[in-house]
Amino acid sequence: MRPFLLATLLVSTAAQATAPWQDEAAAQIPPFAEHLLGTVRQAVTDGGPIAAVQACQALAPQIASEHSHQAWQLGRTSLKVRNPDNTPDAWERSVLERFAEAAIAGTPVKELRYGEEVDGEYRYMQAIAVGEPCMACHGTAIKAEVQEAIDQYYPHDQARSYQIGELRGAFTLTRPLAQETQ
Ligand code: HEC
Repeated sequence: MRPFLLATLLVSTAAQATAPWQDEAAAQIPPFAEHLLGTVRQAVTDGGPIAAVQACQALAPQIASEHSHQAWQLGRTSLKVRNPDNTPDAWERSVLERFAEAAIAGTPVKELRYGEEVDGEYRYMQAIAVGEPCMACHGTAIKAEVQEAIDQYYPHDQARSYQIGELRGAFTLTRPLAQETQ
């Protein structure tokens, strides 16, 4: 019994130690998501969807680094990436695969999130669902000229043919476990 009890206690202590990070991680996401969506909407309004593809290409990585502060690294990833720089690592891939299974089993994509301690860091992912504003560039009926612009910047694009409500990918966040921020 004893080793089992000890293991249980250790697990719950670790869970308690990282639990505060989960809320802090979740709080990093809305400003990042709104900045991305606001930028894409503005670019569509100003110049149409082709200009918006260019804006995404130029600005998405910059917006991610602007929101990476107080020890948190923010990014986006997917099982089907547009930008190869967003390819998931092994941990992200396994979380995305579990999100995909849960979504198929009927869990609403918006509810999918997961955080844990991995090699001295706290890592957190929150699923991203496809919505109406995403369809112009990730949907099933992308205009020919928009497809051309995507092909030009992302010759290996895999992020098309999504339906509304599907799992598009996830926000991915990492921070060191130690208290000090750098
Ligand atoms: C104007 C076209 C456009 C629209 C609209 C758009 N995206 Fe994208 N999306 C892109 C481009 C271009 C990239 C690649 C950005 C980069 O180079 O980092 C991208 C990348 C992503 C990524 C990062 C993973 C990857 O595939 O590289 C996610 C996640 C994503 N988009 C989700 C969405 C969601 C969700 C919406 C709707 C709310 C949306 N996008 C709307 C063009 C668009």
